[in-house]
Amino acid sequence: MTAKLPQIKISLTYETMGKKAAHEIAELLKQKPHAVIGLATGTTPLSMYDELRRIHREEGLDFSKATFFNLDEYVGLSGEHPQSYRYFMQEHLFNGLGVDDSQINIPNGMAKDLRQECEEYEEKIRKAGGIDLQVLGIGGNGHIGFNEPGTPFDLRTHVVTLTPETRKANSRFFNGDPEQVPAFAITMGPATIMNAKKVLLLANGQGKMNAVFEALKGSTSPQLPASVLQLHPDATFYLDRTAAKDFDKYFIPATHKITPMPVIR
Ligand code: F6R
Repeated sequence: MTAKLPQIKISLTYETMGKKAAHEIAELLKQKPHAVIGLATGTTPLSMYDELRRIHREEGLDFSKATFFNLDEYVGLSGEHPQSYRYFMQEHLFNGLGVDDSQINIPNGMAKDLRQECEEYEEKIRKAGGIDLQVLGIGGNGHIGFNEPGTPFDLRTHVVTLTPETRKANSRFFNGDPEQVPAFAITMGPATIMNAKKVLLLANGQGKMNAVFEALKGSTSPQLPASVLQLHPDATFYLDRTAAKDFDKYFIPATHKITPMPVIR
């Protein structure tokens, strides 16, 4: 793999960020209707999912031949649980795209043998021909998927113990109570993500500014899991202007291929 610095695409607003990323997925599907697409949950990709549903509804883009793999799932929640990632994806994307169950892959957090579930998930990705495009969000601590700081870069799909910070951050979906957030999850590992042919990382808001900066600034470290993307041959960071604050002071547009922000009127 020849590494290339991630491209950085900065948008004025969260909505525009989501639209631009959605259009990249739409383009891929037009070229390759059988594309294998990796997806994320969380607040960040919602504007992108809105736009994908719109493109399907209004422009008739066909998603019926694609295959989807989600990054992660909580251990102990079934797909019917409103806070499971399976449920989230149905609500926010799959129902609106008319996607069939057979096209959807999400780790089974209810599996009896979690280790086997992880191995089988990797095998499914391999059999599907690998992931063409993987969408990521980023945690305030730099995590991608549920790969928390300290996760070795060579790990594939595995079971993780969630950190107190992540349980606290996600407690907003669990009545504000970190104790109600499952303690474990299954996640694709950094090596699974790095195997995707193309990676789009989306980040918006000030809370992501430091993590995004650290992820791009030059050195890579498992302490900042998203920094592994500096070693990916085709990664793009889609940012809103608050997540990319002061970037022009630190990054050289030519080497980082920064698309300039539109002029604010
Ligand atoms: C979601 C995931 C997480 C989130 C990250 C950001 O499937 O794997 O890494 O992308 O925690 O979450 P939000 O978008 O809610 O800020």
